[in-house]
Amino acid sequence: MTQVLPPATYFEPGWFDREQLELFGRTWRYAGATGDFEKPGSYRSVQVGRHPLVVVRGHDGELRAFHNVCRHRGTAVLPGDGKVTKHIVCPYHNWTYGLDGCLLAVPQRREVDPDLDRAKLGLHPAAVALWRGLVFVHPDPDPEPLADWLGDLTERVAPYDPERLAEIVPAQRYDLRCNWKVFMENALDNYHLGYVHKDSLIGYDHKRQEQHPCGRRHWFFYEPPLKPGRLTPTDLETGLKPVAEEPRWYGSAFGLVFPNLFVLTSAVGWSSIEVLPTGPETTTIEIRVRALPGQTTRMALGLIKATAKRVLRRQPALDLIQEDVYCCEAVQVGIRSPRFSVGPIAYRYERGIQAFQRNVLDYVPLEA
Ligand code: FES
Ligand SMILES: [Fe+2]
Repeated sequence: MTQVLPPATYFEPGWFDREQLELFGRTWRYAGATGDFEKPGSYRSVQVGRHPLVVVRGHDGELRAFHNVCRHRGTAVLPGDGKVTKHIVCPYHNWTYGLDGCLLAVPQRREVDPDLDRAKLGLHPAAVALWRGLVFVHPDPDPEPLADWLGDLTERVAPYDPERLAEIVPAQRYDLRCNWKVFMENALDNYHLGYVHKDSLIGYDHKRQEQHPCGRRHWFFYEPPLKPGRLTPTDLETGLKPVAEEPRWYGSAFGLVFPNLFVLTSAVGWSSIEVLPTGPETTTIEIRVRALPGQTTRMALGLIKATAKRVLRRQPALDLIQEDVYCCEAVQVGIRSPRFSVGPIAYRYERGIQAFQRNVLDYVPLEA
């Protein structure tokens, strides 16, 4: 069967809730880059399925994750992102926690409970782990280790060290009117590359692409340049210097860290794409791009030059993501149709979609 997920799994609120609970609440989730937690007290809060979590760098330099739920009445102790100077002070009644999660002080403690045992009321711990400069969290304090979860994906993704690279443009966010799985499946669909992106993805050899399942749940994709060992016109248009030291890493690749993170590598850059379900039929994606440091001006000039060339040649502007957004939103409309079904597929290019759907079903089984 080509399509194993029923259409309702792409729009029903009940299914969306089950995914939050049974899938996102039970897998490792990306929580930012190590650079987001540079100083002691730097923190980021993230929603992992139904679990509000927070990652904090301690005064001892250690990165820790907690459930962002005050032990008094449940308030999120640290909202959004930021930096605390000394302790974590709950905004509601000022219960105060150390950056290690221990409960340090309770105002009017005698009023609350003269025998209150602070040792039993620290923030509930969650798990945190690092991979290539990315921070991952898990609501379970003792989950399957991240390295085991990632499996051989770590060897497949190009060996760039993101901590050596810089974010030369601000993070970009796109809000999409489609279910998160439609975007995931579009990214795993490599049949469309030469059609939808015929003007925005130039110089890659789509026919020589390779794909592999990795670990138990992940996926890896790579396609080489049409001219082996050379930068593609798409790379050259960015104006950026190659990140890859060896031309054998030239080309375009991604690793899908199941369920919702892509790590993309090209000859000139390294990016992360996080796909955040915001509702049964809405999704936000966040893209963070890294390249060799000090190239902001170089990239801006490169893009101006490329745009001018495209105008002269009457080619459309370079906007690969918008092209995908258009297709995803159009698919979401089709999925809602009572006539919707998936026809024959180009197995070599689309098989990643089946693997992804089966993985979703392993976490969220269809009810009999
Ligand atoms: S809810 Fe946090 S101190 Fe009351
Ligand atoms: Fe695409």
